[in-house]
Amino acid sequence: MKIAIIGGGYVGLVSGACFAEFGVSVAVVEADETKRQMLLAGDIPIYEPGLDRLVAENTEAGRLVFPDRLEDGIAGAEIIFIAVGTPARRGDGHADLTYVFAAVEQVMMALDHDAIIVTKSTVPVGTGRKIAALAKELRPDLDIDVAANPEFLREGSAITDFMRPDRVVVGTDSERARAVLRRLYRPLYLIEAPIVFTGLETAELTKYAANGFLAMKITFINEMADLCEKLGADVNDVARGIGLDGRIGRKFLHAGPGFGGSCFPKDTLALMRIAEEAGAPSKLVQSVVAVNDARKASMAARVIAACNGDVKSKRIAVLGLAFKPETDDMREAPSLPLIQGLLAAGAEISAFDPEAMASAKTLLPDGVIFAPDAGAAVLGADAVVLITEWNEFRALAPARLFQSMRGRVVVDLRNVFDPQAMRAAGLDYHGIGRATIDSHTSQQG
Ligand SMILES: NC(=O)c1ccc[n+]([C@@H]2O[C@H](COP(=O)([O-])OP(=O)(O)OC[C@H]3O[C@@H](n4cnc5c(N)ncnc54)[C@H](O)[C@@H]3O)[C@@H](O)[C@H]2O)c1
Repeated sequence: MKIAIIGGGYVGLVSGACFAEFGVSVAVVEADETKRQMLLAGDIPIYEPGLDRLVAENTEAGRLVFPDRLEDGIAGAEIIFIAVGTPARRGDGHADLTYVFAAVEQVMMALDHDAIIVTKSTVPVGTGRKIAALAKELRPDLDIDVAANPEFLREGSAITDFMRPDRVVVGTDSERARAVLRRLYRPLYLIEAPIVFTGLETAELTKYAANGFLAMKITFINEMADLCEKLGADVNDVARGIGLDGRIGRKFLHAGPGFGGSCFPKDTLALMRIAEEAGAPSKLVQSVVAVNDARKASMAARVIAACNGDVKSKRIAVLGLAFKPETDDMREAPSLPLIQGLLAAGAEISAFDPEAMASAKTLLPDGVIFAPDAGAAVLGADAVVLITEWNEFRALAPARLFQSMRGRVVVDLRNVFDPQAMRAAGLDYHGIGRATIDSHTSQQG
């Protein structure tokens, strides 16, 4: 089978490499010439564990190509995936579909055979129908079916998520599209990943509902963390206590500085707008957006409070910049408002992230010191703030921190450090929602 993927970003590149690994012949069409040249040279423009090897192997085997002309990419393709960005539109929070419709138009003008157009991009309900209408209008001579196949992979574990998904959702009215997509995803039958076939609108909404729900789960535990601080409880234990309940589940119950990333912020906003326009506004989703925005904006104040209300001329080491570990993605990262807030309060910032330094440099104001490693970042710091839970930060020994720092304050916005070990080493440890950590030992096991 031959397929084309329009857009070689996180989703397009990972999906393309994984489909190629299944034995499919894949052309990834990328409009950004710099990115395409990197891909041709074997350089991966994003950091995603294992992706370099997968791309290299499949390119070498001739199953994965990065053509310079769209016509060559879609020639003979049975399926054309649209995997371009759908960022939040400035001003109103709606998903911006400019790239999606531009891609569909380009494809339709260059196509010379019947095919199935499949959205992998996260698109608002009704987009599939509009794509079908546009395709018919532009090329009445062709028989084009449309399907929605939203992607649920997570950056940082994208390949495993793609290869071993909990489910694949395919929304379409077309029996032909269902059959072809079933054939494409056949390798997943071996691991019994269910394919959920639905109508177009249902598949489109399912993606937003999934992200809305997960964002709500994170926001819920963040609010519980605040409550723990007031009531003398420990949010890690609360999360464990509720997460072991199979009806709730343990994932997405880690209290932190608020969610960021390329998906949750824009998808919750878009879901809010979709619901409002449909006449069924979601108060829950509205609250999730508002609570999360306020939380991210309040992290600088939390650090300032931990530093006795004053960070003027104090050096603060920020460990982690990416919105989560195992990615270099800085989109909507909580580190951005944190650092901006601390700078505005007069602090000096030394920052380190294992992968996101290059993109962070383009987003942060001059004056931030980018340290070559975590040790250099904390050297001489008055306070250390951990905001992205990279594994290498977990291994930072409290005694070494104590020796390297000038001050004593450690603000752990991901609850990765052992509070007792930190305090035993003489550090002034502040976690999230861990008020009782001194008085009760958290029992594991
Ligand atoms: N990143 C994630 O973790 C993730 C997960 C699930 C779903 N999604 C969704 O998938 C979609 C893509 O997200 P992403 O993170 O991969 O975006 P991205 O910005 O990393 O990649 C999009 C790519 O498409 C290219 N592009 C745009 N227009 C093009 C055109 N006409 N022809 C060829 N290339 C074109 C861009 O140059 C860019 O490289 C979004 O709708 C997103 O919401 C993302």
